[in-house]
Amino acid sequence: MAISAKTLLVYYSYTNNVHTIVTALQSQIEADVISIEPTEKGLDYAADNYAIGSAQISAIRANPDDAGSYPAIDPVTVNLDKYDTVIVAAPLWWSNMAAPLQTFLFGHGKEMAGKNIGLIVSSASSGISGVEADAHRLIPEGRFLSPSLWIKSSQTSNAASMITNWLKEVGYSNLSAIYDVIGDDMPENTRIFDLSGNLIKHGEDMILLPHGGIYIVQSAGAKNATSKKIIW
Ligand SMILES: Cc1cc2nc3c(=O)[nH]c(=O)nc-3n(C[C@H](O)[C@H](O)[C@H](O)COP(=O)(O)O)c2cc1C
Repeated sequence: MAISAKTLLVYYSYTNNVHTIVTALQSQIEADVISIEPTEKGLDYAADNYAIGSAQISAIRANPDDAGSYPAIDPVTVNLDKYDTVIVAAPLWWSNMAAPLQTFLFGHGKEMAGKNIGLIVSSASSGISGVEADAHRLIPEGRFLSPSLWIKSSQTSNAASMITNWLKEVGYSNLSAIYDVIGDDMPENTRIFDLSGNLIKHGEDMILLPHGGIYIVQSAGAKNATSKKIIW
């Protein structure tokens, strides 16, 4: 395997709207998917005027730096080194990010430093700025794609076309372009140079190329050597 960086899609969904959105997204991009599950099963977050969800959000608001404020979730094993883009798909709860997803990001958001972060939010009607603020707090060093994608629950059936437009708007295909050129089956004799001619990559080692650069990808096959300039 040469370079395996790619996209991780992480989501939580209580009433399935975000799940539907994620399913539509999966048919448009290649990504590994993690579904967050609260440890406590069968909770009715909407009962008694959303009392449980409300209490969870209040606890986080009161003490956002304390791990004990976040509801327990089933253990997740993830090696974030493998990804250079993370898309977070979240339901909005009381103008914040749904609590179980915040638990995951409280544990792993710092490992997402320097990665591209896309945010998709589903709400009934409330605006998503509070969820964006949560994402920035929990992923302090993320390179956030702008804008976030807001899909109201009434628009869920329209998610596929909204996602298509959003992926274009944030330039998603450019983010992953290099992996089209030098994917897992990158030939051994392919080299990547920066514009000063420094050899950046050769061989089987895994690297993440910093964004904002132009690179030369040279595949020096015996018969047909080619050189391709890519913007990353
Ligand atoms: C505990 C809880 C609190 C919610 N608070 C809000 C809210 O403040 N404003 C809003 O527009 N929708 C609110 N909703 C609705 C959800 O954001 C909306 O139904 C969303 O599509 C749910 O996504 P899901 O089906 O993936 O769980 C809330 C839902 C729950 C369960």
